[in-house]
Amino acid sequence: MNNNRSTFATKLGMIAAAVGSAVGLGNIWRFPYEVGQSGGAAFIIIYLICVAVLGIPLITSEFLLGRRGRANVGGTFKKLAPKTKWGVIGYMSVLASFLILGFYSVIAGWTLEYVYQAFCNGFAGQSSAELGESFKSFSTDTYRPILWLALFLAANFVIIQSGVKNGIEKASNIMMPFLFAVLLIFCIRGLFLPGAEEGLKFLFKPDFSKIDSSVILRAMGQAFFSLSLGMGCLVTYGSYFSDKTRLAKTSVTVVALDTLVAILSGVMIFPAVFSFGISPSAGPDLVFITLPNVFLQMAGGYFWSILFFILLAVAALTSTISMFEVVTAFIHEEYNVSRKKATAWIISLCFVLAVICSLSIGPWSDFTIFGKTIFDLFDYVSANILLPLGGLLVSIFVGYRLDKNIIKEELSNNGEFKVNYLNLFVFILKYVAPVAIIIIFLSGLGLLG
Ligand code: PFF
Repeated sequence: MNNNRSTFATKLGMIAAAVGSAVGLGNIWRFPYEVGQSGGAAFIIIYLICVAVLGIPLITSEFLLGRRGRANVGGTFKKLAPKTKWGVIGYMSVLASFLILGFYSVIAGWTLEYVYQAFCNGFAGQSSAELGESFKSFSTDTYRPILWLALFLAANFVIIQSGVKNGIEKASNIMMPFLFAVLLIFCIRGLFLPGAEEGLKFLFKPDFSKIDSSVILRAMGQAFFSLSLGMGCLVTYGSYFSDKTRLAKTSVTVVALDTLVAILSGVMIFPAVFSFGISPSAGPDLVFITLPNVFLQMAGGYFWSILFFILLAVAALTSTISMFEVVTAFIHEEYNVSRKKATAWIISLCFVLAVICSLSIGPWSDFTIFGKTIFDLFDYVSANILLPLGGLLVSIFVGYRLDKNIIKEELSNNGEFKVNYLNLFVFILKYVAPVAIIIIFLSGLGLLG
C-alpha cells in the first residue's frame, strides 16, 4: 500500500498546503479579536515567544513522525511504536478533527453568506446597531446558515476526493497566492487611512502592565490553534513530504508565514478600526459586525467588503481540507475504504455535526451541557483539551520514546547535512514543551484559577 502512497508533487505545493492548513480563521478572525481583547502588542509579544519556543519544535516533531511513518496519524504511531497504546493518538486526532470541523465549518459558512451580502450590497445604509442585529438574526436563523454550510462542505468534498496531488496541492497552489496578494492589498489600503497610526500603535507598542497569566495562556492556546498543532494534521501532511524535504526548515517557513499572516491581519484590521472610531475589543463579532461597518465608511467599500469575505472563505477552506485529510487518510488506510467513499462518509458526518452546532446557536440555544451550547462545547473541548493533550503526547513521544537516531536521520535527511540543534530540540521536547502544555491544559480546565 505504501509504495503507491501519494507525495506532494512540488516543494512549493507542499509549502502552500502546509501554510494553507495553518493560515485560516484562526489568523484572520480569531487572532485580531484576541489581540483586541488582550491589550494589543503585549499579547503579540507573548504569542511570538510561544510560537518560536513551542511551535517550531512541535511542528518539526509532527512532520518528522509523519514522514517516518509514511502513514495516516493512527498508522504512524502504530508503525513507530508497534503493540503499544500510542495508536490511540489516531482516534484522538479524528475526534478533535470532527469537533473543530463541526464549529469551524459553521463560521466558514457565515463567511459565504457575507460574500453574498457584500455582492448584493446588503450592508448599505445600515447603522452599526443594525449591522449587529442583521448578524444576530442571520447566525441564529435555522435554515440559512445550514444552506451556506452545505455549500462550503461541498467545496471540501470536491477537493478532498480528488486526492493529495490533484486536490489539496492544486487547490492550495491557487488559493494561497491569492490570499497573500489580497491581504497585502488590504494592509497597504489600511496604512493610508487617516488616523492609521493609532491602530499601528495599538498593535506594535506594548503595554506590559496588560500581561497577566490569563493573557499568557490565551496566547499559547492561540498559537496551538493557529499552527494546526496537536491533532495529527501536520503528521498527515508530513507523511506526504518527499525524502528531500528539510523538516526543520519547512517548520520555520510555516511558522514564519502563519505569524506573518496573523500580524498582517492585525495591520489590515486595526488601522481601519481606529480610523473609523470603532472599539478594538469587539470580540468574535469583530469581523462580522465591525468590519462591514468599516467598509461602509470607506471609499470603494463595496469592492473591499467582497474581497475581504472571499479572503476569509478561502483561508477557511485551505484549513478545513487539512482537517478532512486527517480523517480521510485514517479511514482510507486503516479500514481499507476507498478514498471517495471515505470522503463522502466523513463529509456527511461532519455536516450532521455542523448542523447541530449551527442550531445550537439559534433555536437550540437553551440546550446546554456544563453551561455551554454545543457549539461552545465543541470549541472548548477541542481547543482546550484535545489539542494540548495531542501536543503533549507528541512531545513526550518524540522526546522520550522515539530513538534519537531516528530523530537525527529525519532531521538530517539521512546524514545529508549537519544538525547542530539536535540536543536543544530534544531538550525542548523533553522538558520545556510538556511543562508549558500542562500549564495550558490545566488552565483550560479552569484548574489553575
Ligand atoms: N490553523 C487553522 C486556523 O488558524 O484557522 C485551524 C486549524 C486547522 C486547526 C487544522 C487545527 C487543524 F488541524
